Amino acid sequence: MKTYNIITIFPEMITSVFKQGVVSKAVEKGIISINPVNLRDYAEGRHLITDDYQYGGGAGLVMKPEPICEAVSALKEKSDTFVVLLDPRGIKFTQKTAENFATNYDNITFICGRYEGVDERVRELVVDMELSIGDFILTGGEFAAITAIDSIARLVPGVLGDETSADDESFTTGMLEYPHYTRPAEYKGLKVPDVLTQGNHAEILKWRVDKAIEITQKHRPDLLHINQLDIESRKKICAEQKRGLSKKLKLNVALMHYPMKDKQGDIVATAITNLDLHDISRSCRTYSVEKYYVVTPIEAQREIASRVINHWMDGFGSTYNPNRMEAFSHTELKSSFSEVILDIEKRHKKRPLIVATTAKPDRATITAKHLGVISEQQPVLLIFGTGWGFADEVLETADYIVEAIEGVGEFNHLSVRSAVAILLDRITEI
Ligand SMILES: C[S@@+](CC[C@H](N)C(=O)[O-])C[C@H]1O[C@@H](n2cnc3c(N)ncnc32)[C@H](O)[C@@H]1O
Repeated sequence: MKTYNIITIFPEMITSVFKQGVVSKAVEKGIISINPVNLRDYAEGRHLITDDYQYGGGAGLVMKPEPICEAVSALKEKSDTFVVLLDPRGIKFTQKTAENFATNYDNITFICGRYEGVDERVRELVVDMELSIGDFILTGGEFAAITAIDSIARLVPGVLGDETSADDESFTTGMLEYPHYTRPAEYKGLKVPDVLTQGNHAEILKWRVDKAIEITQKHRPDLLHINQLDIESRKKICAEQKRGLSKKLKLNVALMHYPMKDKQGDIVATAITNLDLHDISRSCRTYSVEKYYVVTPIEAQREIASRVINHWMDGFGSTYNPNRMEAFSHTELKSSFSEVILDIEKRHKKRPLIVATTAKPDRATITAKHLGVISEQQPVLLIFGTGWGFADEVLETADYIVEAIEGVGEFNHLSVRSAVAILLDRITEI
């Protein structure tokens, strides 16, 4: 039997929800046990207080640590249990979490917060895992616990009756599910697709797979884990995603050579390098960036860079390696940041969103993925620095700072061309 304990100040909420439906039948059959634990039973004093004012001031109350820890200890005395704190800070609950819990855990205890949440020490003392059911705030963990238990319990063998019925549902397959129809065969002029009424099971299966891909592609393209699909579907999806993406992105990149800081923090103009010119142009074309701007007020620097670009665009290079010509076809030299903004404004009739890049993780205000979504909707200028980083005046113009690329060790000094390539890949990740 699987046991789900729920530590709460509102045990009736749990009892009343699980009185009806599939889960209640599984409880009756003894397949699962749902055990609300009244937190007040572990509170002390005449008023059985479970919450208190927070240290440091502030309006909200905080759930006291002692009753929660006592309740968990009492449960652990009876049997070993995996303790889950429902909390917006936790890892996000998905179908995979439900599968993992249903398969690998026989006894789970859910702690439901209320008010501002639980005293921080509870996490350290008794919690094995923090779990969130999504990026929104509920009034209490009971709603999250009920949602999680409902989704876990239906995967426990015997709960759904027909054990195969959970197998091909949305998320379990890595995709959303195909459409369902029941009688009548025609309703208000809308007919059930012929393939479903003709009894050819191979055709029905094929139709369902195609529809599942189509619906997932349309509503949740992020779910399409390509390696779960057969080769043919994979090719089809890749082609569609690429076509859609290159049409949509309004992303621009600028490599700033002024105003930059030097080692001493003084404002300087840095030198353009041939490697950055070539490699960033190539990355930008590969990821369908609208324009790659190289910005320096030093005329002699622009002159050298334009000779390089012209060699590949019009000179011998254009016939020697036409791919390089293509790579440089969207690269432009500008003397100032404001010239770049003007150029984008002219094209889009709108000021671009300015997004700075940083190597410091604590400065970030937007994720690369979110930036990808935004740059489908409005023009974005992603700025990269040289030397020892941007002058403060550049950072002040930025609307956002995108998340830093962090490696796996202590050392974190990527070349700017590597940073451009990695970020473009993260921003355009589907
Ligand atoms: C009003 S919320 C507290 C929110 C908290 N002050 C914060 O900003 O993160 C009260 C309780 O509801 C539960 N809760 C709220 N949103 C949740 C979510 N998305 N997932 C899981 N539990 C949630 C938690 O148990 C939380 O302690």
